[in-house]
Amino acid sequence: MQGEQSFSKCSACHNIESPRTRLGPHLMGVVGRHAGSVPDYKYSQAMTDAGASGLIWDEDKLRAFLSSPKKVVPGTSMRFFGLWSETEIDNLIAYLKTVSAPQ
Ligand code: HEC
Repeated sequence: MQGEQSFSKCSACHNIESPRTRLGPHLMGVVGRHAGSVPDYKYSQAMTDAGASGLIWDEDKLRAFLSSPKKVVPGTSMRFFGLWSETEIDNLIAYLKTVSAPQ
């Protein structure tokens, strides 16, 4: 799957094969997940607040976040500059959707 290859740009900081923290929270089942909701990950205040005010990672929000993290969550500690084409983002989201949340 193309999106799976693109995930190599995320995997330095994010696990998707096990619910373990790297620099960022794991991304198992992230599509449809509340922002800031992995229990043992210490999010930035900005991400915690975004989750508390109802941000959910649906496809639109993920697309916007990956294009420009700081536009969606000003003050996020995710350092990633959204250098992506829309096609690449779509492929990546399609891949993320195939991975369900840990049981
Ligand atoms: C340099 C490290 C780094 C890279 C590369 C990176 N991230 Fe992140 N990501 C983070 C950090 C740190 C956070 C936590 C942000 C916060 O608390 O504000 C985060 C948070 C997130 C969140 C919010 C998760 C949640 O539980 O609310 C999503 C979604 C996300 N990243 C997706 C991605 C995707 C997809 C990629 C690859 C395109 C990526 N990230 C690349 C470090 C990174």
